[in-house]
Amino acid sequence: MLIPVILAGGNGTRLWPLSRQHRPKQFLAVAGETTMLQQTLARLEGLNKAPPIIVAHQEHRFLVAEQLREQGIEDATLVLEPEGRNTAPAIAVAALVASRREDDPLLLVLPADHLLHDDEAFRASVGRAVKFAEQGWLVTFGVVPRHAETGYGYLQRGELLGGGDGHRVRRFVEKPDADTAQTYLDSGEFLWNSGMFLFRASRYLNALERLQPEMLDACRAAVAGAQSDLDFLRLDTDAFLACPANSIDYAVMEETDDAAMVSLEAGWSDIGSWSALWEHQAHDAQGNAAWGDVVAEDTRNSLIHADSRLVATLGVEDLVIVETQDALLVARRDRVQDIKTLVERLLVEG
Ligand code: GDD
Ligand code: MG
Repeated sequence: MLIPVILAGGNGTRLWPLSRQHRPKQFLAVAGETTMLQQTLARLEGLNKAPPIIVAHQEHRFLVAEQLREQGIEDATLVLEPEGRNTAPAIAVAALVASRREDDPLLLVLPADHLLHDDEAFRASVGRAVKFAEQGWLVTFGVVPRHAETGYGYLQRGELLGGGDGHRVRRFVEKPDADTAQTYLDSGEFLWNSGMFLFRASRYLNALERLQPEMLDACRAAVAGAQSDLDFLRLDTDAFLACPANSIDYAVMEETDDAAMVSLEAGWSDIGSWSALWEHQAHDAQGNAAWGDVVAEDTRNSLIHADSRLVATLGVEDLVIVETQDALLVARRDRVQDIKTLVERLLVEG
C-alpha cells in the first residue's frame, strides 16, 4: 500500500520573521484555519494509504504529536532527526523504516509546507503516478511554470510513457539562475518540480546506493540504532550526524535516468518565500496583500503583514514588510530569496 512520507523538518527561514526556529512555517496556520502540516495530512483523505511516516526535528516532536492528535491521526510513525541533513537522508530513513512495515512499499513523499487549491486534482495526479511508480520510475509532479522562479527545480519533459498520461523526465535542473530559468520558461518544455515524489522504496534506496553510498550507510546505521521513545522513533544521533547533507533534488533527481513526471494542476504553490505567498494570495486593486492592522497609502505590489502594531506605508512599491513582536523585516520583493542568508547571519551573530 501507499505510505505517505511527510517531510516536516525544514526551518522555513525564508519566511522569517514569522517562521522561527521553534515554530517553522509547516506548524503555522499560514493560510486557513489549520496548519500547513495538518492541511497536508487532510489532503490524503480518500487515498488508499497506510498510516503516514512523518520525519521531523526532535525539537518539534510534541508540536507534531499535538497537531496529529488534533487531526485524529493516531497511527503515524514519527521519525525524529537530531539535526536536519536535508531531504535526501530524511527520505532515506523513511524508506528504511517503511521497508520494515512491508516489502518494498510505494512511498508518496510530501513536503509539509505547500498550498494546493484543489485537493481532488492532487489525488487524481497521485492516482496517475502510482502506475508509473509501480513500473519502477521515480515519479515527480510537474507544475506549469508561471514565471522564471529561481527557487524551484525544473523538469524537462521527455517522451510520452505508456498510457499517455505521464512523461519521461529528460533533464532535472535544481534551482537554475534567473537567465536559465527564463530560457526554460520560454522554451515551453519545462515544468516546475513541485517537490513531491512517488516511488518504490527499493528504487530510491538503490539510487542512493549508487550515487550516495556514504549517505545510505549513515542512514542505515541511524535506523538500525534508532530508539523507540513514547510514540517517537529517535534516529541514532551519532550515525545521523555523520550523514552528509544534501537534497533529493541534487543528490538523486539531477543524476538519475529513471525520473518520470505526471502533471499536477491543483493550484499548487510552495509558500517558500514571501514573494510566493504574495503571489498566491488575493491582491487588492493596487496589487497589495495585507494582513493585520495595515494602512497602505499610495502603495503598490507589496506584501504587508502586521502582527502586533499598526503598520502604515506611503509612496512605496514592490516591498515586503513583516512586523512581529520582536522583529521587523523590510525587503525588496525581488530579494526575498536572500532572507535565508540574512537569517543564517542572524543565527551566527546571535
Ligand atoms: N525531515 C526533514 N529534514 N525535512 C526537511 C529537511 C530536513 O533536513 N530539510 C527540508 N525538509 C522539508 C521542508 O520542511 C519541506 O517541507 C521539504 O522538506 C522541502 O524542503 P525545502 O527546503 O522547502 O526545499 P525547496 O523548496 O528549497 O526545494 C524543493 O521544493 C521545490 C518546490 O517547492 C525542491 O524539491 C525543488 O526542486 C522544488 O521545486
Ligand atoms: Mg520548499
